Amino acid sequence: MDVIQTLLRAAQKAAQEAYAPYSGYKVGSAIMTTEGRIFTGCNVENASYSLTLCAERLAIFKAVSEGYQKFTGIAIYAETDKPFPPCGACRQVLAEFSPDLQIIYANQKGQQITTLTELLPHSFTLDS
Ligand code: THU
Repeated sequence: MDVIQTLLRAAQKAAQEAYAPYSGYKVGSAIMTTEGRIFTGCNVENASYSLTLCAERLAIFKAVSEGYQKFTGIAIYAETDKPFPPCGACRQVLAEFSPDLQIIYANQKGQQITTLTELLPHSFTLDS
């Protein structure tokens, strides 16, 4: 199985753990480090809606908290009508660590591939 399919499978599995009683969107994510390790995350909602954490940020924060800061790709999976790319907040967090990350987003019907540079050109950094 190639890397993309491996990441997608991990994201799909992670989506099963999503806590999404308010939106009903169960999202899973899987990020790969340059060393080939995979960290997963799911969205975790809260009754105080704005405290919700997206799947992508949970995945990258788990990786960073374990000592990994460089990534090659991230997959996002949700069983929505159309697959969706990371939200703006997640794009900014991903850009902090790997501005040229490969991004695969998918649903049960298909997948799209892009890069973070394409989704977030001219991202904010303190040295820009
Ligand atoms: N969500 C994610 O997990 N990732 C995104 O990139 C967009 C949105 C979650 C947050 C919330 O639990 C639900 O999807 C609906 O916005």
